[in-house]
Amino acid sequence: CGIVGYIGKRDAYSIVIKGLKRLEYRGYDSAGIMLHDGKDLKVSKTKGKVTDLEEVSSKDNNFFGSIGMGHTRWATHGVPNDVNSHPHLSNSGNIAIIHNGIIENYEPLKKELMKRGYVFHSDTDTEVLVNLIEDVQKNENLKLGKAVQVALNQVVGAYAIAVFDKNKPDEIVVARLGSPLAIGIGEGEFFVASDASPFIEYTSNAIYLEDEEMAIVRLHKPIKVRKIKDDTLVDPYVQELKMNLEQIEKGGYDHFMLKEIYEQPNVIKDTYRGRLLSNKGIIQMAGVEDNLEKFLNAERIIIVACGTSWHAGLVAEYIFEEFARIPVEVEYASEFRYRNPIINKKDIVVAISQSGETADTLAAIKLAKENGAFVFGVCNVVGSSISRETDAGAYTHAGPEIGVASTKAFTTQITVLTLIALRLAKAKGTMSNSDYHRYLLELEMIPEKVEEALETNDIAKEIAGIYKDSPNCLYLGRGYNFPVALEGALKLKEISYIHAEGYPAAEMKHGPIALIDESMPVVVIAPKMGHYDKVVSNIQEIKSRSGKIIAVVTKGDTQVRELADHVIEIPETSDALSPLLTTIPLQLLSYHIAVMRGCNVDQPRNLAKSVTVE
Ligand code: G6P
Repeated sequence: CGIVGYIGKRDAYSIVIKGLKRLEYRGYDSAGIMLHDGKDLKVSKTKGKVTDLEEVSSKDNNFFGSIGMGHTRWATHGVPNDVNSHPHLSNSGNIAIIHNGIIENYEPLKKELMKRGYVFHSDTDTEVLVNLIEDVQKNENLKLGKAVQVALNQVVGAYAIAVFDKNKPDEIVVARLGSPLAIGIGEGEFFVASDASPFIEYTSNAIYLEDEEMAIVRLHKPIKVRKIKDDTLVDPYVQELKMNLEQIEKGGYDHFMLKEIYEQPNVIKDTYRGRLLSNKGIIQMAGVEDNLEKFLNAERIIIVACGTSWHAGLVAEYIFEEFARIPVEVEYASEFRYRNPIINKKDIVVAISQSGETADTLAAIKLAKENGAFVFGVCNVVGSSISRETDAGAYTHAGPEIGVASTKAFTTQITVLTLIALRLAKAKGTMSNSDYHRYLLELEMIPEKVEEALETNDIAKEIAGIYKDSPNCLYLGRGYNFPVALEGALKLKEISYIHAEGYPAAEMKHGPIALIDESMPVVVIAPKMGHYDKVVSNIQEIKSRSGKIIAVVTKGDTQVRELADHVIEIPETSDALSPLLTTIPLQLLSYHIAVMRGCNVDQPRNLAKSVTVE
């Protein structure tokens, strides 16, 4: 979600609307605005894009004021509709909030507030928070800032919020934990926003809140920043922004794709947050729990998807079969739908789709449903067609993916599918207790290890410089990393237009080996776990034909290092989780090659982010 607020002398409406448009890359399923004209607080919100909001709100001639806040939403709790849009008001109508993030413990808080007579109009976790703030303010007779602080100390989750109190119309209270928040400091005016793009044309002075910090932004007063937990005052660091607008929307990265690659540690965490409770040894996902019997009785799982999502499905095939001992078939949705497939009532069809709009996947789902199968969706975009069409599902919490070449959607899809496989393994008893608990802990360490894998950026760039003009490239992997080889090749094709092929490493000798000579770069995924020795033999075969070997290995590897022309080291993890790490340097390698070739990385020729035609 994107949030923006203004307090000063100008017309807040145009500043907020323009700011929201710039933040639309953060989500665009609904939008809302709140203005205060010195007396009254007015709210307008709607499902749809900021232009829809403009249309709805411009009908109201009295919609003016010099204090305002707005929100563009990317739904997490509650489908995108008018009511679930932000801002949300407290029951008294005095306090307004805009929120980016997830309040995980909203249910118990909501129950408690309902007992106290609070009424809820939306399905959002945000409405719980604004009423909690009101409750605290009333009960303890606190000023807004203090009430926000007390409330936030009861909240588990992630947030960037901006809160406004009608009775205190010269201030906005903001806070951050896990989601970004910037404060722009102008002459007699302040801006708050998810990034600096809404205010860069008015001021280049900004404070970026750190996690667990809050600030009271009050007209004609210096900004006070405090730690939410213990109330200590923080000396705010005012930065002078030197970026232009476009750079800021991309968070300082040159391309959305690179930004999204770097978001992976956080979004993987977002995806398992609240679902993986390693201290209790449980995995909880409503869509799975509610249909557990169906999953346990499933005779087969058929995964349908396209593109990168299909590759995530292939990884899931290995994981489901190994962990939960359920036979899995992975199908291109476009093939499945047209070949009169055999579908039984005891089959579960899992549809994977980032956009949730891919026409072939949607058609495959409809066909499966017509044949009586239970269909489970793994989508990123909340409220998308596929998420609505499926019987149940689990969202990936990757946030908006703008780069056409999918990166963070892939790793979060694998994360969700791994969680499901582990949940089923536990219920079926197909995995030992010790392995189960080990996987939970290992999964929790993945974000940190992805962070470390991102440190391969420099070496990936160096290798990119050497091979950027190659007309072909081969990617090889075995087991869990065979689909990673396919995905690595797809990334290179998509954005650099170099012909690339992914192959199971052992299958190379049945064909692609004929292509190998001293000018052929071969990317081999060879982590220490899994079929390491077999992959080493395949590397020997390439070497004896003078192919150029770029190997992705586990840190500290010596054997492959002796054979390969280049090695890229990633941290150690178990075989099943290794795709989450081995993928990272391959994304970076493709990215740098594409940049060096002068390609349009975020919008490659002929491709689209969401393919709604068959
Ligand atoms: C398009 C995109 C790919 C994506 C595929 C499937 O081809 O360019 O990045 O993997 O569609 O999309 P979906 O939204 O269903 O995952």
